[in-house]
Amino acid sequence: MSLRVRLIVLSTAWLIFILVLFNTFLYWFIVNITAKSEKELLFGKAQSILESRRIHDPGYWSAPDLLDEFLVSDEMIRIIGMDGLIKQELQSNEMLVVHQPHVTTRETYTIKRIEKTRCLYVQVPIFAGNEQIGVLEIGRVLTKWSLYIDVLTSALILMTIGAVVLSVIGSFFYTRFLLHPLRQLNKTMQLIQQSATFRKLDKEFTARTDELGKLGITFNEMISRLEELVQKQKRFVADASHELRTPLTIIESYADMLKRWGSGDPEIRKEAVEAILEESNRLKNLVGSLMQLAESEQEDWLQFAELDLMTVIRSAASAMEVAFDREVWVESEADSVPVTGDPMKLKQLLLILLDNAIKYSSKPIRIRIVPGDDSVLVQVVDQGIGLEEQMLPFIFDRFFRTDRARTRQTGGFGLGLAIAKSIVDRHGGTIRMASRPGRGTVVSVTLPC
Ligand SMILES: Nc1ncnc2c1ncn2[C@@H]1O[C@H](COP(=O)(O)OP(=O)(O)OP(=O)(O)O)[C@@H](O)[C@H]1O
Ligand SMILES: [Mg+2]
Repeated sequence: MSLRVRLIVLSTAWLIFILVLFNTFLYWFIVNITAKSEKELLFGKAQSILESRRIHDPGYWSAPDLLDEFLVSDEMIRIIGMDGLIKQELQSNEMLVVHQPHVTTRETYTIKRIEKTRCLYVQVPIFAGNEQIGVLEIGRVLTKWSLYIDVLTSALILMTIGAVVLSVIGSFFYTRFLLHPLRQLNKTMQLIQQSATFRKLDKEFTARTDELGKLGITFNEMISRLEELVQKQKRFVADASHELRTPLTIIESYADMLKRWGSGDPEIRKEAVEAILEESNRLKNLVGSLMQLAESEQEDWLQFAELDLMTVIRSAASAMEVAFDREVWVESEADSVPVTGDPMKLKQLLLILLDNAIKYSSKPIRIRIVPGDDSVLVQVVDQGIGLEEQMLPFIFDRFFRTDRARTRQTGGFGLGLAIAKSIVDRHGGTIRMASRPGRGTVVSVTLPC
């Protein structure tokens, strides 16, 4: 069932329920109010009959003149014994006797529909002393009142039907109007699916001030984000292929050189083998970095443990000192900084930052650790070439390298900081870089304790 049909059915069903409830109440209320005077009239009449002493003596019940004087047109008067049998009955309209006699112990009344006309019956107990000996029943045909109630009933039924029909027609139009934006949204989504290109909802849709307008804005934002992601992905694949192609081309040309002249010339052979080795190494590093980036997208990439950050930092610092023969100073206000994290990945994070600092500077490098209440700040400070402020927003993008870095023979791919950022993100921390060209760079990492 479509949403539209569901809305129409639901609103109509609810309307029918309300109308039936109200109309029943209204009918009941009007019937009771308007029948009241007739009821009072008949009860009054019963009281005046009961004033006769003879009626309280069953011996007189068969007397033909007992009730005569009280009978008027369109009425019936009867005396019913405690055995439920009719003892005396007078009527001026035959239709009234259809009503079955029954014994009651208190004053009651009934409205009965006989041959499309409503008749009112009142029953009053007859006493002899304290003992009930029978029931006096008076019936009356309420022709006018009946007509009036019939008109009322027809009016209520017609009104209900009219309201329901109008409501169905109305909801047919308003659901069309209300659901129009959803149809538009659906159309846009289908277009996206069919043409495999991103499309946004037009201004008319997003300018709405209701929930659908908000939905439209969110939808457009989502499409922008997806577009951006797809662009990023495309750029990543293009960059990766480009980076992979360069060493492969070099390897290929050296291998070709070896094949042609390498057998006779040991100089050429040496040069080619060294170049091939170097490029294979570069290729291996690149593939390693790419694998890490791919892995970082996986849920179970990190193995969390309780650890001392100081131990990790010191071990990374001394490893780099030994490997690159450079000075790395560790400055900390605390001897140990307990954190929850993946020790291997945190060490890798430091190696990436130190690797950059070593590559892009020549003076000693400082690592500052400032423990806070619920986080710890780690800064890697170098006094190297630095970079322009306008580069900073792109520094964590994959394959981003400044021209200065490209011209230097440092052999990076621009993946280090992208990996560093995913490590920090996965630890719930933040990473920022501040830099001045020619003065140096500070990379600040905050990790939750
Ligand atoms: N300490 C730094 N000083 C100056 N420039 C830096 C520093 N760290 C990073 N950069 C700049 O940011 C770029 C991206 O750094 P990133 O570590 O991601 O790549 P990379 O060092 O070039 O290569 P990779 O880390 O993949 O070997 C670098 O190419 C360099 O231009
Ligand atoms: Mg790097």
